[in-house]
Amino acid sequence: MTAMTMKSANATAASLVNDEMQALLDRYLPHRRPMSAGDYDWDLIRPESVDRDFLEAVGFVTLVEANPAAPAAHILAAADRSNAPWLRRFITQTWLPEEGMHHVPFKEYLIRSGAYQKEFLDSEIDRVIDRGFEHGAGYTELQAATYGWLQELITWRFYESMHSYLLAQATDENPADPVMVKILLDISKQENFHRHIYLAGVRTTLNRSPERRGEVVRAAAEFLMPGHHMAPDWQPKAPIWSQKFNFPLKGLIRDIVSDMRDLTGHRGLGQTAILYGSKNAIHWYLKPLIAVLAPLSRPYRSPVNYLAGRLITLAF
Ligand SMILES: [Fe+2]
Ligand SMILES: [Fe+2]
Repeated sequence: MTAMTMKSANATAASLVNDEMQALLDRYLPHRRPMSAGDYDWDLIRPESVDRDFLEAVGFVTLVEANPAAPAAHILAAADRSNAPWLRRFITQTWLPEEGMHHVPFKEYLIRSGAYQKEFLDSEIDRVIDRGFEHGAGYTELQAATYGWLQELITWRFYESMHSYLLAQATDENPADPVMVKILLDISKQENFHRHIYLAGVRTTLNRSPERRGEVVRAAAEFLMPGHHMAPDWQPKAPIWSQKFNFPLKGLIRDIVSDMRDLTGHRGLGQTAILYGSKNAIHWYLKPLIAVLAPLSRPYRSPVNYLAGRLITLAF
């Protein structure tokens, strides 16, 4: 293919992806509505039914939810750069209006329950806003959607685990806090919807342009939850919370593995795992293995990627 015909083939693929994604958004977006503090009966809160760790976890998510405008700016830039109006529409019409309200009921709860003072939360939120958002600058629309898919998936599962923790702790004498139960349910439903759209964006794009799967592999391999940068003083407690709330880590990995395999094949899955392992802190006993595998896995077609992908699929 000449450069000219390749350019026009890419433009055709982008416009077909846009048509499909716009049709999906047409179906869902008119029925969506951001939440508000008025959705909850604040007289019913029962903060005595939740423990300190739980309140701290709510403090953490209040902060990481407090500045969605920063990631939105990166995603919108990616959408415009890659000629993906569907992504711009999703962010402006639904994602940002919905995400912009997620910290509101959490914050209201923390203040009303006496867990934290408003002044403290406001000053922590100012610090979060000052830090900005470091992921995804320069991303394509496909990389941005990959990041969004993983981030929403993990966030959704985290809220679900907080929700099940509240129900599991409840007794007849000390029932679960109905307001917090509803907040978590409402927000986690929205996170799951966002996950669905991002994942559909990745899938639709790869269907039209399978040769772009390397972008998905790279974005997944360098993925890090935003909390590390947005709330570094709070993030170290996340493993403690996830253990306490019985976060389904194995189920999460199973979901990621199966979606990655569907999207990029065994090779893409294997390559992602190896790249991820070579970039991130992993157990010492896997380090030499990763050091040997990483250079071998560089070409996507490498059998090392295929074998790693097969092994991971078998393990989960
Ligand atoms: Fe959110
Ligand atoms: Fe979300």
